[in-house]
Amino acid sequence: MSHEEFPTDDPAVVTCGLPYANGDLHIGHLRTYVGGDVFSRALEKLGQETAFVSGSDMHGTPIVVQAEQQEVDPEEFALGWHEQYEETFPKFAVDFDNYGHTHGETNTELTLEIVEKLDEEGYVYEKEIKVAWDPEDDQPLPDRYVEGTCPYCGETARGDECDEGCGRHLEPGEIEAPVSTITGNPAKYRDRAHKFFRVSELSDYLTEFLDRLEGTPNAQNQPREWIESGLQDWCITRDLDWGIDYPGVSESAEDPAASGTESRPEEDLVLYVWVDAPIEYVASTKQYSERVGSDAYDWEKPWKGDGEIVHVIGRDIIQHHTVFWPAMLRVAEYNEPRAVIASGFMTLDEQGFSTSRNRAVWAREYLDEGFHEDLLRYYLATNGGFQQDVDFSWEKFQERVNGELVGTVGNFLYRSMLFAHRNYDGTPDAEVSDDVRDRIGDAVDGFGAALNDYSPRKASEAAVDLARFGNEYIQRNEPWKLTDEDPEKAAQVVRDCVQVAKAVAVLMEPFTPGKAQRLWEQLGEDGDAGDATVEAALEAPPSGFEEPEELFEQIEDGRVEELNEKLETRVEEATESDEGVDAEGEDEMADEDAGDVEPLADDRISFDEFQSIDMRVGRIESAEGIEGADELVRLEVDVGTETRRIVAGLKQLHDVDELPDTKVVVLVNLEKAELFGVESNGMMLAAGDQADLLTTHEDADPGTRIR
Ligand code: 2FM
Ligand code: ZN
Repeated sequence: MSHEEFPTDDPAVVTCGLPYANGDLHIGHLRTYVGGDVFSRALEKLGQETAFVSGSDMHGTPIVVQAEQQEVDPEEFALGWHEQYEETFPKFAVDFDNYGHTHGETNTELTLEIVEKLDEEGYVYEKEIKVAWDPEDDQPLPDRYVEGTCPYCGETARGDECDEGCGRHLEPGEIEAPVSTITGNPAKYRDRAHKFFRVSELSDYLTEFLDRLEGTPNAQNQPREWIESGLQDWCITRDLDWGIDYPGVSESAEDPAASGTESRPEEDLVLYVWVDAPIEYVASTKQYSERVGSDAYDWEKPWKGDGEIVHVIGRDIIQHHTVFWPAMLRVAEYNEPRAVIASGFMTLDEQGFSTSRNRAVWAREYLDEGFHEDLLRYYLATNGGFQQDVDFSWEKFQERVNGELVGTVGNFLYRSMLFAHRNYDGTPDAEVSDDVRDRIGDAVDGFGAALNDYSPRKASEAAVDLARFGNEYIQRNEPWKLTDEDPEKAAQVVRDCVQVAKAVAVLMEPFTPGKAQRLWEQLGEDGDAGDATVEAALEAPPSGFEEPEELFEQIEDGRVEELNEKLETRVEEATESDEGVDAEGEDEMADEDAGDVEPLADDRISFDEFQSIDMRVGRIESAEGIEGADELVRLEVDVGTETRRIVAGLKQLHDVDELPDTKVVVLVNLEKAELFGVESNGMMLAAGDQADLLTTHEDADPGTRIR
């Protein structure tokens, strides 16, 4: 693995977090897969040899619990969903080179090999621990069979993760006040012997690894805090009969003579799902190599030789990818990941998705509405920074499609290519001007720099800004006025525009591959736009092309109203028929209660008390994330008479680069506070979980008092 700029001379593998094979995909789920696909296509555009792999996560309690509810065998249940995912991803042009699953032979073999290696190296030991037990059903309650309170943050936690609070992984026995999700009884604890991986011994290695790690800042920063607070060893087995059986390796029990330990047949002991799940990244790459031949792609290069590993994940699984997984790779003598890119969450109309309340835009429903997959891809991959949360609403979708894709990109392409076709039957016979050549070169450089910065959004801006430039260029030069007056100049302007159109096709391909292919064909190009690298942006297109068609269509207001009504009706129907919501069906990606409105307080304050609250209009002068803090941003805010330094938890929710110049409302007489070692002198007001910043709409100057 190198830390050289992409493209490197060695192959890369880009992976996407494996979806649990346990339910329908909605557009919130698609965010990570579209992001991974865009990143992998974009690397290939730069000339980087890249494999893009993932697979379905078939094991663990997320599968067993759901399968039990439907009274089906977990294998049959998970395979059914796996097949659906295999069909769904390509419909969104998420084109994995290999999409396997964790229950396959390749993964099982590799998993056993890796776990045996951990054991041989002395990193596995057996220890007796207390595991949750259902007293009525007399059975163990691994992971999602138990709910309780997170010992770290006090929020309600489910099984092995604190998904509504601090996001930490929870070890068996850690959850407080455990309750069985099978019977609703308070769980008891019993002693059981389990296998542990000595992650604690790898703290120094992991600290150094995080210093090298590239990707989004959240993937580096969160685990640093966990490591600094002391790593615990990791329990790698579970009392479950679905998964990969723990291999029959020799055990070095910490306390082999322990008394009172439940005796148990070894076959009930399977590997924890988080052991075999990431190994599928390797297995899937291996399957790809086996299919295309190792001369075409050698899986061992990224995983064991000279090559690059990039993981694209949701931010809820950072700990697994930056602590447990690199620790396993290290001991098993595999390469470490070069980068982890962790996306934020998705909300729908500023609230969480809820699968049980049918509050979601389902993947198949989006397509059934007749929308092209590229519109959603563009929205998901370019709406804010990768690690920011993204809200979807049909209005916002309409705004971006109509504004950027129709208004900027589509408009430029159609008007310039139609003019070229009508006047020159295609590309005019002229040289591209130096200025336009340089402008395209800058866009290509910007695209490459954005990818090396792990920012698909900035890469898309390079493409869209180029189309914007094309629009201004054709407008400024008015070739329609020059065809008679100065035909040579007219031909050169149109030649420039056709070259810009070709460059736009090349740079937009990772985001909108279907539309880029259509454009490629409209330009008279042969073959696959996906195979063209950035060099093609400056290569001449063929001389003749047909009359173009418009690539993108406006979404009308009436359509948005109709879609909103459908969504509302469906949510109402689902809520009525499902008043007692079943927690297991809830979405893992967002808090579905985010929209509940707090009752108004009965207590009133006096007018004098209100007068004592000093709120002013402020203007953000600068904003910068605080290193090491996952959420916090340091802002300099002009409050009229002075500039205040304010610390606010906005990093995950806003694009920090876009905050400067925003007008805000600042509570200026709040006592000072210190957050992450930085003094905060005031507070900016914001609404709700998404920190929707309060602003002013007219021209009130900074310092104006708010009454
Ligand atoms: O959290 C999840 O949805 C897991 N199925 C992700 C697994 S990613 C990987 F490492 F395998
Ligand atoms: Zn917690």
